[in-house]
Amino acid sequence: MYIIVIGVSTLQAVRIHAPQAGLGLGYLNIALVSINHYCNSFYIKTGDGENMALMRFSVSLDEGLVRQFDAKIKMDRCPTRSKAVGDLIRSSLVQTEWRAGDEVAGAIVLVYDHHKRDIVKKLTNVQHDCHDAIISTQHIHLDHDNCLEILAVRGKPGEIDAIVKCLKAVKGLKHVSLAAGTTGERLL
Ligand code: NI
Repeated sequence: MYIIVIGVSTLQAVRIHAPQAGLGLGYLNIALVSINHYCNSFYIKTGDGENMALMRFSVSLDEGLVRQFDAKIKMDRCPTRSKAVGDLIRSSLVQTEWRAGDEVAGAIVLVYDHHKRDIVKKLTNVQHDCHDAIISTQHIHLDHDNCLEILAVRGKPGEIDAIVKCLKAVKGLKHVSLAAGTTGERLL
């Protein structure tokens, strides 16, 4: 997958390698052919590297909002405004995938004290009940008491939300969170 952003002047090219957990090989290549932080008109070229479609668009925003956005980009060490805009678009598209009920992927993070009564047994039971959607697990012994568990999940959003609810119902858990991701199949 390639996304090429073309602006006014050629400054640099960046290649980002982003394997997606639990999805096998996933790569994102971004070539920044030019960067102009003060130009709000730019081209985005997308495709598979063979048949790329070129799209040019411009945006008009409140000056204060742009300044806030630029300050955030700088804080996040994002190399260009174009990449930041692209990231926002993809993040919005992932949220849409979850709302639409398409197949999605993500990770559930658990932290618990394994000494707590029956907690390991209960968590294992939930995971066996939901084995279709849980594609991988990783268990890290953080210290003498605490365990960190990461469950890579793939399936319909409703299935994944149900797993999170079942896990949250287990008494004694210190932390449960969901990183709602994507299979990447519908994103460029
Ligand atoms: Ni452990």
